[in-house]
Amino acid sequence: MDLENAARAVRENAYVPYSRFKVGAALRSASGAVHAGCNVENAAYPEGTCAEAGAIAAMVASGETEILEAFVVADSPRPVPPCGGCRQKLAEFAQPDVRVTLATVSGEVLVTTVGDLLPGAFRNDDMGKA
Ligand code: THU
Repeated sequence: MDLENAARAVRENAYVPYSRFKVGAALRSASGAVHAGCNVENAAYPEGTCAEAGAIAAMVASGETEILEAFVVADSPRPVPPCGGCRQKLAEFAQPDVRVTLATVSGEVLVTTVGDLLPGAFRNDDMGKA
């Protein structure tokens, strides 16, 4: 399945009783596999998780840690901008030039990169350890 279809399909499963705002994310990892995630909210609001976080968790659970491409979709007025935390999460597993396609359900897209979403991201090597 391609990334767009995977993101659109998993979005339908989003658990969003509080915001009513469904988000779907799909990642292609180094092996070529596709990993999908949706947002999962909670009555204790800060415990909710974003679609991107779910897709990253699925990728890591499958034994992979390298994102080669990402796609995020929501029924938003503009191609859905990932939150700051998800930008940092994507930067953990993707090089700055990795393509991220942000989309609306109606088909508007914005193609960007992990580096453009979070310039100057804090990375492992910023801790200066050998
Ligand atoms: N949300 C995501 O899952 N990903 C994004 O990129 C933006 C926001 C979710 C979190 C929450 O469940 C809902 O959208 C409203 O903030």
